[in-house]
Amino acid sequence: MRNLLVGLSSLFLSGLAHASNFMPVAGNSYAKEVDSLYYLLLIASLISFVLLIGGMVWFCVAYRRKSDNDETPYISHNHTLEFLWSFIPFVIFVAVFAWGWKLFREARHMPKNAFEIHVKGVQWAWNFEYKSGKKTTGEFVVPVNTPIKLIMTSPDVLHSFFIPAFRIKQDVIPGRYTALWFEADEQGEFQVYCTEYCGEDHSRMLARLKVLSKSQFEEWLADDPMKEFEGLTMAERGKLMITKSACTACHNFESSESKIGPSLQGLFGKTREFAKASGAVANEDYIRESILYPQNKIVKGYESRKMTAYKGLISDEQVSWIIEYIKSNSVN
Ligand code: CUA
Repeated sequence: MRNLLVGLSSLFLSGLAHASNFMPVAGNSYAKEVDSLYYLLLIASLISFVLLIGGMVWFCVAYRRKSDNDETPYISHNHTLEFLWSFIPFVIFVAVFAWGWKLFREARHMPKNAFEIHVKGVQWAWNFEYKSGKKTTGEFVVPVNTPIKLIMTSPDVLHSFFIPAFRIKQDVIPGRYTALWFEADEQGEFQVYCTEYCGEDHSRMLARLKVLSKSQFEEWLADDPMKEFEGLTMAERGKLMITKSACTACHNFESSESKIGPSLQGLFGKTREFAKASGAVANEDYIRESILYPQNKIVKGYESRKMTAYKGLISDEQVSWIIEYIKSNSVN
């Protein structure tokens, strides 16, 4: 019996030792408290398991039938025992409920002074927009020791925003706003997941959360590369984009001379001849395809040149700007 108890308790202790690292990193005090509640549940379950299964095994051995005329004594009830096995679990359940309720309230009660960020979950990326107008995709940055409120919605299907390190999760619903809040205690990087199956690339719908010091955050927020595009026409934005994306390193846009790649001056509306595919008129769709998947249609004579595929490097909006810029210098 003693050996059994020693064995079981060492199993229990090694379980506990592992328990300290089967949870994801805890990014703040809230996460640590959620973990403590889980450990309470885990320990209570382990103790109950040991008492119940241990007791059952012990009874089987100690009270087994020892001879053919063993008689079972008549036992009706025991008030003390019955009270204890009802009252102790009752106290544990009420404690777990109260603690859980406190944590749930804390998670759902949005602080009024929170720094707000708009989040849009689209198939299949997380987009963030700050009140300053700065936008990011797949990554967002917040200041440390500041309550952050995320105001979330979706234009397509249900998604779910989950930051394991902060133990918070919320559905993101089309046609409705939902919110989530957290406060990071330390600087660092944390992973964000989509935890609602939302189609083909659901598993790749990830984002990084970066927690910076307050001054670093202010600096980051003020540095908005999109500010330069404000107040410009689409074609003017396109012209800025081709410089920023280094298109001009290989293509001339304002003279017919070819560089590494063919000149794109006056391209719009012209008929292009290709190395493999049959010729096509350079319209919006052709230009888009040539930016995102340049290997699909290689212009005759440029077979040995390899252009970077801009798929994933440039947004649909930016592609439209470049198209408008090419159009604007094709009107002669
Ligand atoms: Cu979005 Cu899964």
